[in-house]
Amino acid sequence: MSDFSSLGLSDWLIDQCKQMGISKPTAVQENCVPPILQGRDCMGCAKTGSGKTAAFVLPVLQKLSEDPFGIFCLVLTPTRELAYQIAEQFRVLGKPLGLRDCIIVGGMDMVTQALELAKQPHVVVATPGRLADHIRSSNTFSIKKIHFLILDEADRLLEQGCTDFTKDLEVILSAVPAKRQTLLFSATLTDTLQELKSIAMNKPFFWESKSEVRTVEELDQRYILTPEKVKDAYLVHLIQKFQDEHEDWSIIIFTNTCKNCQILTMMLREFNFPTISLHSMMKQKQRFANLAKFKSSVFKILIATDVAARGLDIPTVQVVINHNTPGLPKIYIHRVGRTARAGRHGVSITLVTQYDIHLVHSIEEQIQTKLKEYPAEESEVLKILTQVNVTRRECEIKLESTDFDEKKEINKRKQMILEGKDPDLEQKRKEELEKIRNQKKKFKNKIHEAIQRNKVAFLVLLNSRGPRALHIDVKL
Ligand SMILES: Nc1ncnc2c1ncn2[C@@H]1O[C@H](COP(=O)(O)OP(=O)(O)OP(=O)(O)O)[C@@H](O)[C@H]1O
Ligand SMILES: [Mg+2]
Repeated sequence: MSDFSSLGLSDWLIDQCKQMGISKPTAVQENCVPPILQGRDCMGCAKTGSGKTAAFVLPVLQKLSEDPFGIFCLVLTPTRELAYQIAEQFRVLGKPLGLRDCIIVGGMDMVTQALELAKQPHVVVATPGRLADHIRSSNTFSIKKIHFLILDEADRLLEQGCTDFTKDLEVILSAVPAKRQTLLFSATLTDTLQELKSIAMNKPFFWESKSEVRTVEELDQRYILTPEKVKDAYLVHLIQKFQDEHEDWSIIIFTNTCKNCQILTMMLREFNFPTISLHSMMKQKQRFANLAKFKSSVFKILIATDVAARGLDIPTVQVVINHNTPGLPKIYIHRVGRTARAGRHGVSITLVTQYDIHLVHSIEEQIQTKLKEYPAEESEVLKILTQVNVTRRECEIKLESTDFDEKKEINKRKQMILEGKDPDLEQKRKEELEKIRNQKKKFKNKIHEAIQRNKVAFLVLLNSRGPRALHIDVKL
């Protein structure tokens, strides 16, 4: 492995790396930093926790030191927490430059952000929605002259998931110069390669870590097959076990909905586990505060939705538990990648019901490795089953009395209004769409039934007339 100076980085940057405990480049840094310094567009696909952030931060800082101006670099990322984390890396490594950065994310004051943008910071780290809002509504700043455009978690920014960034990206891409250096990074780039290539136009340099297995070697990947009703008892049992066996421990538990996140947090607190949550229905300041409390180990357990699945770098996390089996292998890769980072060891445990087995198979196929069964002590789990389920039910009742669903509905309406949509109109459209879908479904079922009927008729005919009777009209 080479060292940082052979990659073409300046001494002051190498010193900064050393101060952060970084002395040798990782593979993605070794391979991507030189072409970026040469001015090439770059797409880097490397495993979780392999140092992709420094692979773009270091060359950007070097180039910025040669020709400092603002706004020099724009970084886009899918989540607000990740934006803060990336900005921090820029700030720490860029300290000798007196780097000025600015974070533009939703849920924070827009006027303050507009004032900061107007001061022409060197680096802007943003989530697409809020930056697009600023571009639409203000002419006090410009990203027309940026040198670098970086998309971290690039595949997530381009896919049409529950948060769809494509419209906001269009606004941003039309505001940046055509002549720029574009850098795209993720642990899972390959599915969206073609779309990405159209963003990085100048014959991008593409680097992907060679290994077939898409998760890191240091990660021990386990599963527990359990009925839905026993899941929570397994969860409590697992946490108790980690608490008993480890002095310094931190766990992230991923679950599928904000409501479940809230219920599990309440439930684990009833068992006196130091638990805190992170999901998109929380106020932004609360989200940051909770994450900070988890990072500093004041709370040992973080229960989160997939808003925490990508990019977050918390070295103390030793265990990731998937309370639900992720529907997409990609999401699994990012979730379990919150542990076993930068060469450390970690464990992931996925709770699998009989209905999720096919999901595990597609995860295993994608990551090119098999999950092993976790040797849980079933008898211990059964001992606490009733107590856990009763506690959960109590928490559900408590949450219902806090109007969680109503708040969710209000939040949804607020979001729609912010997006310039009429919530009532949208509701009507949704209902109409549902009607059409149901009609289509009925029609499909009818066709299916008719085909089945004709198949039977055909077989009867075939049996009675022999193999020559191959031609029948299929009338629906
Ligand atoms: N060359 C290096 N040597 C040792 N540690 C490093 C090196 N480069 C980065 N790190 C550390 O590795 C950790 C993970 O880095 P980073 O967050 O950039 O990973 P990533 O590849 O972006 O992962 P993800 O796909 O989850 O976003 C960080 O704590 C970072 O400080
Ligand atoms: Mg990252």
